[in-house]
Amino acid sequence: MSIFAVKEQMDALVAELNQHTYNYYVLAMPTIADYEFDKKLEELAKLEKEHPEFADPNSPTQKVGGDITKNFITVKHKWPMLSLGNTYNEQDLRDFDERVRKAIGDDFEYVCELKFDGLSISLTYENVVLVRAVTRGDGTQGDDVTSNIKTIHTIPHHLKGDEIPDIFEIRGEVFMHRAAFEKLNKEREELGEVAYANPRNFAAGTVKMQDSKEVSKRPLDCFLYALNSEKQLFKTHWESLQTVKKWGFNVSDHSKLVNNIDDVLEFISEWENQRFKLSYDIDGIVIKVNSYAQQQELGFTAKSPRWAISYKYKAAEVQTVLEKVTYQVGRTGAVTPVANLKPVLLAGTTVKRATLHNADEIIRLGLHENDTVFVEKGGEIIPKIIKVNLEQRKSTALPIVYTNHCPECETTLIRKEGEVAFYCPNDEGCPPQIVGKIQHFIGRKAMNIDGLGDETIEAFYQRGLVSHISDLYFLKEKADKLKTIERFGEKSIENMLKGIEDSKQMTFEKLLFGLGIRYVGETVAKKLARGLKNIDNLAKASIEELTAVDEIGGRIAESIQDYFSKPEHLQQIVLLKAAGLQFEVAENEVLLQSDKLIGKTFVISGVFEKHSREELKAIIEENGGKILSGISAKLDFLVAGDNMGPSKLEKATKLNVPLISEEQLIEMIEL
Ligand code: IVH
Repeated sequence: MSIFAVKEQMDALVAELNQHTYNYYVLAMPTIADYEFDKKLEELAKLEKEHPEFADPNSPTQKVGGDITKNFITVKHKWPMLSLGNTYNEQDLRDFDERVRKAIGDDFEYVCELKFDGLSISLTYENVVLVRAVTRGDGTQGDDVTSNIKTIHTIPHHLKGDEIPDIFEIRGEVFMHRAAFEKLNKEREELGEVAYANPRNFAAGTVKMQDSKEVSKRPLDCFLYALNSEKQLFKTHWESLQTVKKWGFNVSDHSKLVNNIDDVLEFISEWENQRFKLSYDIDGIVIKVNSYAQQQELGFTAKSPRWAISYKYKAAEVQTVLEKVTYQVGRTGAVTPVANLKPVLLAGTTVKRATLHNADEIIRLGLHENDTVFVEKGGEIIPKIIKVNLEQRKSTALPIVYTNHCPECETTLIRKEGEVAFYCPNDEGCPPQIVGKIQHFIGRKAMNIDGLGDETIEAFYQRGLVSHISDLYFLKEKADKLKTIERFGEKSIENMLKGIEDSKQMTFEKLLFGLGIRYVGETVAKKLARGLKNIDNLAKASIEELTAVDEIGGRIAESIQDYFSKPEHLQQIVLLKAAGLQFEVAENEVLLQSDKLIGKTFVISGVFEKHSREELKAIIEENGGKILSGISAKLDFLVAGDNMGPSKLEKATKLNVPLISEEQLIEMIEL
């Protein structure tokens, strides 16, 4: 096979597997048997091994959506992980209460808990150390995902407190906060990757990834809700929750101990609307009999305990009419279809629009003009169309056809191989792309320019004041024109000009991210800045030099070369350089390798085996930690080596400052 044919075959496999993954995880409509999928994945992995030069860094062999790769060790659960019976209405719950009372009488309490919408996990601790984390699997055995779970900041690796049993198991739910989900999913979409349908799928996909380093970049969280041990340690579930909280576990503050089923129903109705105010999704309430002795009396059915049940909230849903489909153009030129709906009240807000994600979603729904559609609002802020009410469709209705030109500049859209989104290629002339790029540049994560906001950029563009990033740095020469803008007073202009001036000191990595080069997100920009030091090296780097940088693959490298091949981009860089922006890494700049130690303080004392004190200091600072000069109650960790001064040791012990070894410090960063 010629080398070109190999590359073509690999690209085709990536595209095909991505499509199947999308169908499976996002559309929940598999289009291939698991076995066939695995065979194709294997074929791709083999080709990637033979031709690493063609391997796509985002290849489906590198990422796991759910259960695709099965390279985890299977572990049998000591206590089977059962599921819960579901109820959907008051009567079901009263029936449950009746069954409980028949078995144990009237003298008992219930604990009401939120039902977190994630995936359950079993954690085993031995001698206060986390030794194993296992997924539910089929309930009898699951996957050992310990190293991935160790990346979750709210799961303690070491416990604190007295009377902790030598060995016990604790269960909880791993989930992703909605804000993190939305942010990361947007980044995925921008990179042309398959977006996840909801935070639960994202969390599940993350826990099953092969690379813990990748997992650590996706913030997961975990609430614990059940303790198991050989010896019975507590009389009630409530007591166990309060105690494990003291050991360092993240236990929800929203649980409630109640006396009867009426109180349970009140709790349920309180959370029916309150739940939308949480930063994460819940899909119901779990009700548990409090006393362990009574739980034992009630026992289990084959599938679930008789002492607990869940109440599931219905996703709020209404029908309304699709008025038209419009298209939004993003900064990268990606064109997203939006359903404009006849306004309708849903879960307390008026819904007028719903996202349609991409062209495939329109096909999946089979949308026709003026269709009556079912709109659902789960935890998400943006509602979605679930399906069409076919009974309401007129026989003359025409199918909605995804646009083939840009709604803003009329340019014919393109779709790259293997990508779901259509793009407007007119990046220099398409207004939302021009405005979006400048908005991205001034954004908090990029140049973070004070006194400038998205609307101001829009207004400036309308008035011909800015059409390129570099124009921002020449605004001070246009002060007269600025004053003519409504609600833009002298003070605001002064603030803005100061913000722009200050931004000239912003670090190279932020500037690089701000340029908005395709596939160059925050992390990639950081790596490139660290690897190549300045813009000139970056602009002339070969594909080999680019891919030699940690985590930079072929697709990113090509995108960088493409960016610097365009004269208009080079011109921008010349102008920005002339304005005095930082196009190289400052010598004394601490380049963050990770943010794992952000907010944490350290004192280093003694002599170490593997690193010098200076090296340890650099390691801490590169990962966002701070070195303090002395031991105080504020100190988070004392990194203790040999021959440490006795007075330091005494002070740290007195103030309860945890002592950690060199290895434990490295572990904190590597996990
Ligand atoms: S207790 C015997 N408490 O819901 C089952 N489960 O449908 C013990 N879940 O597999 C589970 N929040 O993944 C319990 N507060 C909570 C929960 C919870 C979410 C999940 C868990 C479980 C599923 C049962």
